[in-house]
Amino acid sequence: MPYISEQVKQADWKSEKHVPVIECADTIKAGELTPVKVTLGKAVAHPNTTEHHIRWIDLYFTPEDSPAPYHIGRFEFTAHGESTDGPNTGPVYTHHEASTSITVPEERCCDCGCGTLQAQAYCNIHGLWESTKEICIE
Ligand SMILES: [Fe+2]
Repeated sequence: MPYISEQVKQADWKSEKHVPVIECADTIKAGELTPVKVTLGKAVAHPNTTEHHIRWIDLYFTPEDSPAPYHIGRFEFTAHGESTDGPNTGPVYTHHEASTSITVPEERCCDCGCGTLQAQAYCNIHGLWESTKEICIE
């Protein structure tokens, strides 16, 4: 039986619609509130229907010297056209995009790669997808 970690897929977000895209400055200032946006389907749109949609995106931060990731947040997308009239007749759809802000209190700078933002997205029929973005903290 495979471990879930063996089933998480990676690809280039420019050609694969399931890959989360993490948008954040490459270098952030220690102690300052920094916006981070995570979405997917930026280059190739992902469907958002009752039958096929993104359920959630998890965002993590791993400092360079850490053996484990720190969970920043889970963003759930729970409306996909469901209603008593049937699939895709509901009044609202949640788009698979989330914005938050983070603060990293300590300067961590090295030659680069001070930390990594990591995102995992779950599609209800295509499974788990992940991506990373290195950030420098000065
Ligand atoms: Fe999908």
